[in-house]
Amino acid sequence: MPRLRELIEKNRQWSENIRRTDPDFFPTLSSQKNPRYLWIGCSDNRVPANEIVGLKPGELFVHRNVANVVVHTDLNCLSVLQYAVDVLGVECVIVCGHYGCGGVTAAMRDGKLGLIDNWLRHIQDVASKHAAELDPLEGEAKTDRLCELNVLEQVDNLCRTTIMHDAWARGQDTVIVGCVYSLRDGLLRDLGVRKTSAANCGSRGASVR
Ligand code: CO
Repeated sequence: MPRLRELIEKNRQWSENIRRTDPDFFPTLSSQKNPRYLWIGCSDNRVPANEIVGLKPGELFVHRNVANVVVHTDLNCLSVLQYAVDVLGVECVIVCGHYGCGGVTAAMRDGKLGLIDNWLRHIQDVASKHAAELDPLEGEAKTDRLCELNVLEQVDNLCRTTIMHDAWARGQDTVIVGCVYSLRDGLLRDLGVRKTSAANCGSRGASVR
C-alpha cells in the first residue's frame, strides 16, 4: 500500500510540525468543549469545511454528502443532526453548497451515472419545483441558481425535521442558515436565510449573484 504509506508519512510530518509550533494544540483539542457549529456540506474535495471558514479541528461538527442534501429518510444525516443539536447543543446549523457542484450539474444533465442517480433525484425535484425561475436561465447561471435553491430547500428540510421541532419546542435557540461557496474566489456567500423556529420556515432567501 504505497499510497497509504505516503499519507502516514505526511501525517507524521503534520503532527510533528504542529507539536513544534503549537505545543498546546493537541492537549487543547483533547479537552475542547462542544463545537458551536454543525456544517452540512458537499463531499466535493475542493470544499474542505474547516479550512474555508478558518476553524480548527474541534470547532466544527461536520456532515458531508454529494450535493449537501438533507433527506428525511437519511438516518446518517439525521443522526448527525440529532447528536449535534441534542447532545452537543450546537448554536448554528450551516447548509453550505458550492457553485459548480458536480452533483447539481449531473442532476441537470439527467445522465446515467449509476446508483447516485437515485440520490441526485432529490436535486432534480428541487429543479422541478423551481422550473419557472430556472427555465429562463442558461448554462452557468442556471446551475449556479440551482446550487443556491438547493441550499434553501435543504434548509427548509432541516426545519421540518422532528429534531429541530423538538429542539425549538424546548426553547433551544439553534439557528439554521444557508450559504454557497465559490470555487473561483474561495468566498462564502450568505443566502440571507435565518430559521429560528418552526413558525418561520418556508420563507426564501434572495439570490446573491
Ligand atoms: Co458539490
